[in-house]
Amino acid sequence: MSPSHARHKPTIAGLLDIGTAKTACLIVECSAPGVPTRVIGCGVSPTRGLKAGVVVEMDGVEQAVRSAVGEAEVQAQVTLDDVALSVACGRVRAATFAADSPIQRYTVSEEDVSRLMQAGRAFAEKDGRLLLGLERINARVDGVPCSAEPGGVAGRTLSADLVAITADEPPVRNLMHVVERAYLGTTALIPAPLATGIGATRPEARQQGVIVVDIGAGTTLVSMFIGGRLLAADVIPVGGNHITFDIARGLRTSVLEAERIKKECGTLARSAHDAQALVAYAGAAVEPEAAQMFETTRWALSDIIEHRVSGLFAHVSERILRSGLAPYVQGPMVLTGGSSLLPGIADTAFAIFGRPVEVSAAHPLPGLPAEFATPAFATVAGMAMVRPQFSMRSARREGTRDASGYLQRMGRWLRRSS
Ligand SMILES: Nc1ncnc2c1ncn2[C@@H]1O[C@H](COP(=O)(O)OP(=O)(O)OP(=O)(O)O)[C@@H](O)[C@H]1O
Ligand SMILES: [Mg+2]
Repeated sequence: MSPSHARHKPTIAGLLDIGTAKTACLIVECSAPGVPTRVIGCGVSPTRGLKAGVVVEMDGVEQAVRSAVGEAEVQAQVTLDDVALSVACGRVRAATFAADSPIQRYTVSEEDVSRLMQAGRAFAEKDGRLLLGLERINARVDGVPCSAEPGGVAGRTLSADLVAITADEPPVRNLMHVVERAYLGTTALIPAPLATGIGATRPEARQQGVIVVDIGAGTTLVSMFIGGRLLAADVIPVGGNHITFDIARGLRTSVLEAERIKKECGTLARSAHDAQALVAYAGAAVEPEAAQMFETTRWALSDIIEHRVSGLFAHVSERILRSGLAPYVQGPMVLTGGSSLLPGIADTAFAIFGRPVEVSAAHPLPGLPAEFATPAFATVAGMAMVRPQFSMRSARREGTRDASGYLQRMGRWLRRSS
């Protein structure tokens, strides 16, 4: 621990990732914001009512939040008042742009820098976008590159390249509203593409340049890191659920059965043997007991999956091209998210993107149980390592082990309101 961290009292932070398939909550002890020392509680619950990261049914999502947070609270023996929340909705995007501002008293002052950042902020927030992060990448005085902290340099115009992460505000407010319904405040909004990139890669890889693709259930997040920073990010509203829907439609079976055979028999790594290998499944029926059994080959199942994954990768490729940054990314492509568990997906990606591809799980934070150190939890694990924009308030440590956090919060709220 560095001396600067040693001065901080450990704080406790709640991290909440509301995904289309599952809601995950981690409670971490931090020596400083964004510097986790250990995970003290984990909770996960299936999510109902989220489509491509957007709340479409409040009750279902609220239930998932209560259940995941409650489970983590019991394990950690704390009651959270608030959480940092991941944001994958509202067409969240990271993009770079240039901003400039006149230098008022010949040499660059703090006010000049702050005016430049305000100009950048106004530009990023145009069209009513919500600003989730704004960072200065470099600076120039009269077009000549100078240090990123340009204070004291003489000239007329200060300019800089900035990276802004923004999202449409209404879906983010809806997400925060659901969290409020579970009696939790939101201390920070953490862009999911930033969190998942940090959760699935090492700092050296981000320094060298890396493209991270998180294929979840309803969304695919694309993040590009160069020189250790997130410079471009985009969200595609397609994920593993779409593969499942294609299987259900193609084989005329239920979504539940399609999900089962996708996970048990689905593959992109085909062999000649798969043309004969049979996959049995129940056909669609109003009464599940009355469903007839059918068979298909693993090859035919793989055809359906490959069609959807190739289409998704074509979208990913288009987003990478649009960023204009691909030539600067030296390192491999990293796949993460639950759908990256599809066998053979790295080879399919290699064939399309022409760069080395790795599948990566969430970083093993101290105290993180093995079942959370998988690709599906890269976002929530990465959130622990993101320095949030707002300060985190510490949670109250409870003496009892069996108390339900939700009821305690509700009780406190009722007490406050009466
Ligand atoms: N072994 C597997 N093979 C194929 N797909 C899998 C496997 N295991 C999980 N998946 C898929 O991963 C998806 C869930 O991934 P994940 O948990 O990352 O999603 P999420 O974070 O809840 O959703 P999102 O980030 O899209 O909002 C589901 O579509 C599921 O079918
Ligand atoms: Mg996710």
